[in-house]
Amino acid sequence: MKPAIHYTDLGLVNTNEMFQKALEGKYAIPAYNFNNLEQLQGIIMGCIESRSPVILQVSGNARKYANPTMLRYMAMGAVQMVKAEGAGIPIALHLDHGDSFELAKSCIDSGFSSVMLDGSHLPFDDNIDLTKRVVDYAHEREVSVEGELGVLAGVEDDVSHEVSHYTKPEEVEEFVARSGVDSLAISIGTSHGAYKFKIKPGEQVPPLRFDILEEVAIKVPGFPIVLHGASTVVPEYVRMINNFGGKLEDAVGIPEEQLRKAAASAVCKINIDSDGRLALTAVIRKIFAENPTEFDPRKYLGPAREELIKMVTHKNERVLGSAGRA
Ligand code: G3H
Ligand code: 13P
Ligand code: ZN
Repeated sequence: MKPAIHYTDLGLVNTNEMFQKALEGKYAIPAYNFNNLEQLQGIIMGCIESRSPVILQVSGNARKYANPTMLRYMAMGAVQMVKAEGAGIPIALHLDHGDSFELAKSCIDSGFSSVMLDGSHLPFDDNIDLTKRVVDYAHEREVSVEGELGVLAGVEDDVSHEVSHYTKPEEVEEFVARSGVDSLAISIGTSHGAYKFKIKPGEQVPPLRFDILEEVAIKVPGFPIVLHGASTVVPEYVRMINNFGGKLEDAVGIPEEQLRKAAASAVCKINIDSDGRLALTAVIRKIFAENPTEFDPRKYLGPAREELIKMVTHKNERVLGSAGRA
């Protein structure tokens, strides 16, 4: 059954083939969040440059911010731009952290090729029921669905490192079978935002719980796993922001080495939002500090976009391994 506006009409693809190739090739597909034109351009241009497949990821808030109609045509514009460049990279448009059937349906009906239903805060059976409802609607329209088991806590939450927040591997098989999801986000020690760990100067970031990831991969062999909260919180951007009037003290993320290890495993989608925000903010702060008379948005958003292209290219080539896989 095809909705009024189906993602194939926009030139988008769902994530199924991307994930199969990523699992076989032992790399991860980048899922970059965007809210505005320059972020979208930076992501797409970086992925063209590195010849990487890409998941354009939009939260419910981002969709509201950009306007749902505008957003659909932005995604279509990205596909057309890629075509005009002769690049042919596969592009998926994905709802990030969908919190209701209605939101997922609205996205599917307006051209999204993939949706996440994040029921991770719900009791196990309720999470399955809500996720399955979305899966049933999505699969009739060949839209892929990501579910979540285990809670990613914020670092301000004192219980963020408690075992109870990690995904329980013994629940995974049943969740996947009963919900029918195409991929599963798990909690192995990452968290959203720029403050992922509380560490003292000189201390190392604690390693992710690769033991949980391995157990999950044994329970559901060959099943696509998703890693949220996977920004590195690039120290160079944090330094730049703090040097030019910002105040991001103690911001710290996931070291690249750990992300490389994850990308080579059952993890086939890696979510990055904060690093993109930091890249733009760092460049804009520097330009404003050094050129207080500047007020042409192209003069600060343009260089910020250039930095985002560099960041995306670097991640695709050196961290996720998705470069050259389009
Ligand atoms: O995981 C959430 C994403 O980083 C999006 O956040 O709701 O501020 O757009 P947002
Ligand atoms: P970061 O905040 O680490 O970029 O995580 C983004 C994310 O998981 C979006 O769903
Ligand atoms: Zn997330």
